[in-house]
Amino acid sequence: QAVVVAIDGPSGSGKSTVSKAVAKRLDWQLLDTGSVYRALTWYSLQRGVDLDDKDAVIATVPGFLEAWSLSLSPDERWVRVGDTDVTDRIRETEISAVVSKVAGIPEVRDAVNQRFREILVGTDADGIVAEGRDITTVVAPDAPVRILLTADEDVRIARRLAEKSGEDAARVAATVTERDKKDSRVTNFTAAADGVVVLDSTDLGLEATIQAALDLISA
Ligand code: CDP
Repeated sequence: QAVVVAIDGPSGSGKSTVSKAVAKRLDWQLLDTGSVYRALTWYSLQRGVDLDDKDAVIATVPGFLEAWSLSLSPDERWVRVGDTDVTDRIRETEISAVVSKVAGIPEVRDAVNQRFREILVGTDADGIVAEGRDITTVVAPDAPVRILLTADEDVRIARRLAEKSGEDAARVAATVTERDKKDSRVTNFTAAADGVVVLDSTDLGLEATIQAALDLISA
């Protein structure tokens, strides 16, 4: 049975970068759960589904779960739906702006979370880092290491802007703020549940944050 490390946090908290670095250094696997909600959003849009029509979105989930695959290797990141590689397009602003609608549907979360649990149980790696919004609380509440990665909002927006250089600053900031607001109504990733360690990266550099996470894992 693989050691599961659960990491939650809002956008720009450094969650993806830190999770990937930790998995790489330990030679473990990485489960990026956000990419699945993003890919499902892409899939639904592709099929012409109105994302405000909950039942229509729910109806796309079985077909999506059938067609979807992703790499668990931190060195080789890809997400596919059928034969289509959606790795890059699911990161686009068009998806980021609406993914919370899809992720906010409880029936969608139940089905997707069930798949996440199967992946965590089924892996033959020594360990797996799972990152998202409700991994510490819903997907893997029994994980031996559970971390909530946070950072002040202005710092998170600045990090997102640095990633998306060339895009309109006000738009990026608004997207981050809006998405966090919508997400926090669904998954309570802003406060740590019992037993979850808060790692605040506001004043920590990337390397220090990675080290702090590794220390928590080896403790
Ligand atoms: O990397 P970033 O924080 O921008 O986003 P992400 O981790 O790729 O997640 C994209 C979206 O998926 C979030 O804004 C949530 O709406 C949703 N999500 C979720 O609801 N639960 C998860 N465990 C992971 C992501």
